[in-house]
Formats: sequence, structure tokens, C-alpha cells
Amino acid sequence: MKDPWRLNVANFKRLIMRSSQKAYERMKAFRENIKGKQQYLAMYSSIFGGITTDPAVMIIPMDDHMVHRGHGVFDTAAIMDGYLYELDQHLDRFLNSASRSKIDLPFDRESIRRILIQTVSASKCRNGSLRYWLSAGPGDFNLSPSGCHQSVLYAIVIQDMSPAAGAVKSRGVKVITSSIPIKHPKFAITKSVNYLPNVLSKMEAEEAGAFAGIWLDDEGFVAEGPNMNVAFVTKEKELIMPHFDKILSGCTAKRVLTLAERLIEKGKLRGIRKKNVTVEEGKKADEMMLLGSGVLVCPVVQWDEKIFGDGKPGDITEDLLNLIVEDMKSSPSIRTSVLY
Ligand SMILES: Cc1ncc(COP(=O)(O)O)c(C=O)c1O
Repeated sequence: MKDPWRLNVANFKRLIMRSSQKAYERMKAFRENIKGKQQYLAMYSSIFGGITTDPAVMIIPMDDHMVHRGHGVFDTAAIMDGYLYELDQHLDRFLNSASRSKIDLPFDRESIRRILIQTVSASKCRNGSLRYWLSAGPGDFNLSPSGCHQSVLYAIVIQDMSPAAGAVKSRGVKVITSSIPIKHPKFAITKSVNYLPNVLSKMEAEEAGAFAGIWLDDEGFVAEGPNMNVAFVTKEKELIMPHFDKILSGCTAKRVLTLAERLIEKGKLRGIRKKNVTVEEGKKADEMMLLGSGVLVCPVVQWDEKIFGDGKPGDITEDLLNLIVEDMKSSPSIRTSVLY
């Protein structure tokens, strides 16, 4: 970005926007100039007590404790064919994260749930994702939240315009062991906005030509990726996954554990177990996969030097992906319909 101060010393007055209309126009132009792959279709903020569909005003205050101190929590839910997938499971985790972060709820659970559904409805989005935050709120720039006026709920509906990404992932991805320190379990089990380690881990992976970094925990066991859980299929056809006590308890991973029972019934899997997984055990496995709302079930074809299944996605991983996609499309107990 050009530095307007250096370039425009003579036109310094241009920097001072004397009307909010001017600020709005510049914000609108800024948004229109961003040729991103995501579109923001609607935003709710309890500060303005309503929903906007204008990306130029999808903004949050600078003095919000979430902005300058990272005192906020968030969660997501996928929107598929006009339904929200696993909304209540994500909402439970969201409220647990808020309670661990000592953020009071601005409204009760039912009201938060209703607002989230209404935001999707206002967006008219039938396939995309809903992301929402609870913040300690604006008030001042101090470390203590005691000056925060009121906790705040924000929500946004995002439509991803990059269909190619899905195709790349279905062919399988490469991962590396992350050298970025993993979060302490107290913080890893909470979905707070403090994602600096996660961002650095993702960047490290991208710099190495990989899709994600895999964290090991303080005892050297396989932990999780920066925004996904990990699972393996052993040579004995057992689906194994790390315990959730030191990592985020993934809604997708938990659902996969349930859906995988169907592969036991079909004789494709012999067992399903949460356990401590060593690196050696993971690298000896037949299949490795990433699990998360963003990737669903994504085959890993390479972890560091180890190649899984001759570099092709494994059968069980593909079966689990099909099961979760089917579940998203048709499972009545776990889908919330949005009235548009
Ligand atoms: C650190 C971390 N682990 C795991 C997950 C997977 O969780 P979910 O399946 O609920 O998206 C996420 C995604 O939000 C994450 O950020």
C-alpha cells in the first residue's frame, strides 16, 4: 500500500476526513478494490443492534478488547443448501470458550442462536459459512476489561468463491511437522482469537510448499493442525485420533468418530479409538487425514518425508468424506433450517 503521508505532504489536508460520509466513501472504495475470493454477505453487530449487507460498514471499534488485547472468542458453522450444519455443537463450544475467557454473554443462548440464523437469512446465502465472535467489548485501551462497556456479539456470513481449492484438497495434501510452539492446553482447548501460533504455523507450512503444519504436544504425541484435527487409519484398519484434552475439541472430528461406526458395520474398519498417537505410529499408518469445518475430511498424502498410499488418498478417508458430505446434505438431527 502506498504511504499517503509521504506521497502527499503537500496535500496533507486530504488525509483529514471532515465528514463521516467521506470516510464511508473511502471505505466503500477500499472494499470494492479488494479482489478477494471471499464475499461478505451480511454482518450482525450487537453494537448497532442489527444486520447490514453493506461490506463498507462491516467494521468493529478499535477500542474493542478483542482488537487490542485478543480478548474474544469465535466459532463457525457451515451453511449447506440453506441449512446450518452442527450449529448447536459449535454454539456449545463457543459458549464454553466465552466462559473460560470470562466473557459474559450479552444475550442468552437462545437469543444468540436466533440472531445467528437471522443473519444467515438476511445474507440470502445458501452455501457458505457463518463465523461469529463474542468479545469483552469496547470501552478503553487498558489491559483490564473492567472498563469495557458491554460484551459484544458479532457475526458474518462468508461466501467462498474459490471452488478450485476443494478439488486440490480432494487429491490429497502435504503436511509438515510444525516448529512453531504449540499453545498451552489451557489455551488450545479454548477457541479464542489468539491465533498467532496458528497463523505462523500455516505460514511455515506454505513456505515449505505444504498445506498445514502438524503440532506435537509437550510429550511429543501428535496434537492437531492450525485449524483442523488429525486422524489416522492403522495397518490393522483402526481409526485412531488424539485425545481432546490438550487440543481443540473439533466438531467435525467428533462427528467423524460417530459416522465411522458405519464403516465398522460394513467391515471396512476394525475399530475406532481416541488415544495418544506417537509420530512413529502416525507415520506407520496406512492413511492420514485432516478434519475440520474448513477442510471437512481431507486426505494427507505426505507428512514430512513419509508418503501415504503411494501418494493417493486412502479409501477410508474417502469413505469418511462421503459420509460427512452426505450427513451435511441430509441428516435432519444435525441440520438447522434457515427461513429465507
Ligand atoms: C486449532 C483448531 N483445531 C481443530 C479445529 C477443527 O474444529 P472444527 O471441526 O470444529 O472446525 C479447528 C477449527 O476451527 C481449529 O482452529
